[in-house]
Amino acid sequence: MKLLLVGSEVMPFAATGGLGDVLGSLPAALKTTSPDDDIRLVMPLYSTVSKEYREKMTFIKSFEVELGWRRIYCGVYSLEKDGVTYYFLDNEYYFKRDALYGSFDDGERYAFFCAASLRMMYEVDFYPDILHAHDWQSALAVVYLNLKYRGIKEYQNIKTVFTIHNIQYQGQYDMSLLTDIFGINSCDTGYLEYEGCINLMKGAIHFADYVTTVSPTYANEIMTPAYAHGLDHMLRCYQGKVRGILNGIDYDYYNPKEDKDIVSNYTWRSYGKKAANKTALQEYCNLPVREDVPVYAIISRLASHKGLDLIKHIMEDFIAKNDVQLVILGKGEYDYECYFNYLASKYKDKVSALLVYDRSLSKRIYAAADVFLMPSKSEPCGLSQMIASRYGAVPVTRETGGLYDSIKGYYIDEKGKVCGNGFTFANYDAYELSDRMYAALELYRDKEAWQNLACKVMREDFSWERSAKTYLEMYSTLV
Ligand code: GLC
Repeated sequence: MKLLLVGSEVMPFAATGGLGDVLGSLPAALKTTSPDDDIRLVMPLYSTVSKEYREKMTFIKSFEVELGWRRIYCGVYSLEKDGVTYYFLDNEYYFKRDALYGSFDDGERYAFFCAASLRMMYEVDFYPDILHAHDWQSALAVVYLNLKYRGIKEYQNIKTVFTIHNIQYQGQYDMSLLTDIFGINSCDTGYLEYEGCINLMKGAIHFADYVTTVSPTYANEIMTPAYAHGLDHMLRCYQGKVRGILNGIDYDYYNPKEDKDIVSNYTWRSYGKKAANKTALQEYCNLPVREDVPVYAIISRLASHKGLDLIKHIMEDFIAKNDVQLVILGKGEYDYECYFNYLASKYKDKVSALLVYDRSLSKRIYAAADVFLMPSKSEPCGLSQMIASRYGAVPVTRETGGLYDSIKGYYIDEKGKVCGNGFTFANYDAYELSDRMYAALELYRDKEAWQNLACKVMREDFSWERSAKTYLEMYSTLV
């Protein structure tokens, strides 16, 4: 089988969040599970891609891409990694920017990227059996294939999968851009128009052979108005082709046994060595160095759907009344940054706010923390709860999306067996969160019980193996 993944961010080349993590590890996981398949991926060549990787790339060729009335230069570079071929599409006008997203012309930039990805198949003579596009930035690849390329023999039988990593971002634009910017004929308006504007995600949902999202629970949630940001009707119409497949995490990159970023390596068998990471973090954060106090951690983009309003409601009370420490890592909305700065300045010996995006520091915090808070309002999959588990930080999560599919509430059954792998609550309610934070605190006081739970949490399997198999089974039903 020949597979081409299309995506706007891929670790370690350029990434801003979970999509980058997934596209950074899924292709290699597919290749490991099915070594005979030809797996390739295409992404933009952003100017932020580091010199280290640029030096490893080979220039293949350049060509012109047609988009509406424009004829646009595109260079294509490639490199091999873990048996996967990565293509990088170069156009400095579109991709020489300080940030991946957030430009006024993002719609045009990713329209170019999608049009160029399809043209590239002809230019490098690689026609996949399956094109697998991710999120709104790649949605037009599915649309253009169906509206513009089906007449060409080599493109006729390409099947398509479209994955929604977060339905909140749909690629919505004014109708007036349809022909001029997106190069779509006015007679095809219906494929993209949704509630009075262009909706790129709608187009991909319509045309794709399968629409997947990143957890089974989220696949159900997005059929409802509460979660779908307006697209629930569309998804209900196509529910027969919607699947939910839980993400995994990169077990080599997130590996407390060998991680070079943390001061003390450990496994669940040597759980005691985790303590040295806590000491190191407390020193780094100027918090009192104490082994007996539980460290609660939040590592998150500071956005409202991460459940930070619940945190705001109860955290000060929790901190003031209890002997605990809190470390926050992440940046985002100004309101939340102010709030965490306030907490850190008022409770200097209890709270540390590190308002940056820093992957290496995040691993030091996962390795140091006892409790990991993730009370998201919605969470398509969530990777942080899996990473926290791998490093033995017990998650406190809300039962939504991928959090519900990966973390189950802790209890001891009649036979005395430890069940579950975290503390969970159902409703988006600050006092339910607070209740679970107290439950964690209480269990923490019982050293042996806590260690049993933390070690069980570390043994959970969140590797890619199972999900890679599920993707491959789904692809094989198409070819
Ligand atoms: C998005 C989602 C997150 C998911 C990630 C990878 O960032 O918000 O829940 O884990 O994509 O699929």
